[in-house]
Amino acid sequence: MRKQRMSEVTSALSGQIAFGGDYNPEQWPEHVWLEDVRLMQEAGVNLVTVGVFSWALLEPEEGHYDFGWLDRVLNLLHAGGISVDLANATATPPPWFSRAYPQSLPVDERGVVRSYGARQAFCPSSPDYRSATARLTTAIVERYAAHPAVVMWHVHNEYGCHNQPCYCEVSGAAFQRWLERKYDDIDALNEAWGTAFWSQHYYRFDEITPPRQSGTFVNPTQVLDFARFSSDELLDCYRAEADILRAHSPLPVTTNFMGFSMGLDKPIDYWAWADHMDLVSNDHYLVAEDPRNFQELAMGADFVRGLASGGPWVLMEHSTSAVNWQPRNIAKRPGELRRNSLQHIARGADAALFFQWRAAKAGSEKFHSALLPHAGTDSRVWREVVELGADLVAIAEIVGSRVCGAAVAIIHDTDARWASELDSHPTIDASLLNETRLWHDALYRLGVTTDFRRSTDDLSSYGLVVVPMQYLMTDAGADSLKSFAGNGGTVVITYQSGIVDEDDHIRLGGYPGAFLSLTGTRIEEFYPLHEGEEVELTRYGSGRVFSELGRPLTSEVLAEFAGGPTAGSPAITRNRVGTGTVYYVGTSLTPAGARELVTEILTASSIPVPQKSGDDLEITRRSDGTRTWLFAINHGSADAVVTVDGVDLLTGAATEGTLTVASGGVAVVRETVA
Ligand code: GLA
Repeated sequence: MRKQRMSEVTSALSGQIAFGGDYNPEQWPEHVWLEDVRLMQEAGVNLVTVGVFSWALLEPEEGHYDFGWLDRVLNLLHAGGISVDLANATATPPPWFSRAYPQSLPVDERGVVRSYGARQAFCPSSPDYRSATARLTTAIVERYAAHPAVVMWHVHNEYGCHNQPCYCEVSGAAFQRWLERKYDDIDALNEAWGTAFWSQHYYRFDEITPPRQSGTFVNPTQVLDFARFSSDELLDCYRAEADILRAHSPLPVTTNFMGFSMGLDKPIDYWAWADHMDLVSNDHYLVAEDPRNFQELAMGADFVRGLASGGPWVLMEHSTSAVNWQPRNIAKRPGELRRNSLQHIARGADAALFFQWRAAKAGSEKFHSALLPHAGTDSRVWREVVELGADLVAIAEIVGSRVCGAAVAIIHDTDARWASELDSHPTIDASLLNETRLWHDALYRLGVTTDFRRSTDDLSSYGLVVVPMQYLMTDAGADSLKSFAGNGGTVVITYQSGIVDEDDHIRLGGYPGAFLSLTGTRIEEFYPLHEGEEVELTRYGSGRVFSELGRPLTSEVLAEFAGGPTAGSPAITRNRVGTGTVYYVGTSLTPAGARELVTEILTASSIPVPQKSGDDLEITRRSDGTRTWLFAINHGSADAVVTVDGVDLLTGAATEGTLTVASGGVAVVRETVA
């Protein structure tokens, strides 16, 4: 992991939390820029991201640059005291480039060329794209490395968002080279891919194609390796551009991640990528119609904090209100913007940045909210933005502190996610993300902070580790969990975990293969449930999605399936491993059942739970080693109470013993040292 350098950015911002967002001045006449800077000052904006989609204007023709307008923008911002996260503008090649190099356009799995006219229309393996981005990056960093407004570099934008894997011939050849490096000899590939099946045996690497659309299911290990390759290929693009920036400038370099939203269709292995970030940054957008979207936000932020090794990270984008790309773009309710921003900060962000500064009047995103709405400053959103700016100043003393007190980790391996999304599995209803969310939510409701970790990470600081549907498990990951449990830890393992090895081969001899000795429960057959079906359990409510036929070997049965196809078979078991305890859950519990089980497990593992009322009062703490701050965010419709002593930085009020957080309210309490 590279050293995280967020503190250099906040130092450049005089110790303040970064506040601002994407600024696209090229969409507006220059007289508007003056108003922009004035209003940024009024709102307390201190950092804007400039140039993300500016390639077409910065390089009007190949090798000829027009930096005049960008010079003027950066000078204006600097004169206004606003710092810049400067993009290298490589996210979207201009139309002239795609016309000159049509072979650089991406090709989908059906062999259809994706046109330019939207964004990110390039093949990551294209040598033309790579040399053009290297030239552009060099030109930009040479010109602006010494500009006093610039405090960090922003490479590209949301890798993998729209440039999903490319299946063209150039990508195919790069895939062959990647496979040759990985397997060295073709027989090793045949073994890993199980090509004895369906006459898929390969004699030479150059026979292999990307997993293009075929008559039916393409070889799953080929698909998995292609996801790994596609992530590596985009990472090579990032690294090449970041290296150029670092060669010319000492400032930290990042690119904006998209949290949990990356699946097999848009492969990015963020754990691997995080090692190459000088600071981890993330974009998060609420799913407006999800009634518990604030919990999903919390989970995403916890994941990003894991990528940043627990240190402060950058919230590079979120929205002040509605987005434009969901089926129904529901606007945020009053106070929701404030709660969302402070949630990210409560979970480790030292920045609250948005897409975007000024709402666009043209283009596909003209209905996307912004800091400055179409209606201008006489608007609720603007007033909330100004208030948020003041709140961030009021809590600035938390800058540099870290989220503390996480006694629980949830395991999330990228390969497990990708492999769980391959074709032809027992049921389409089994979702690693849903299962992860179920367990995170159960802990969230109790106010228990969770970290995200890989199975192979050092888990020794945790009391409880949850393994939700980690379908693919390496030997190293299984060993790590075994030693965690053996040394006294508590582990919860759910159905569809440890089923295959890293080549997506079934681990034979009974499920959950990799974890059989840990669970002490042997499953012999899966019985997925019908859509919407629930089967009763003898305890902890009912199960959904999955049921199983099995029996305890060394485990104790806590609940059986009371109905359904596997009535009498164990649904939840507990096993002693060394000095630790392993729970196995063979179905998807309801939120109430998960909460009940989690509460019992926390008590049995002596993990403290905050004293608070209400499931929707979100509690976290940050610490700088000397002081601690408690963040209490009430998403519920009733006032809620938490036990805490200290001073609420947002109001200046002292709290003694208990603090009441009004429905929709937020408190950030510097705690009294006992
Ligand atoms: C992403 C992109 C932005 C913008 C927003 C809209 O986060 O990075 O350019 O398109 O989505 O929500």
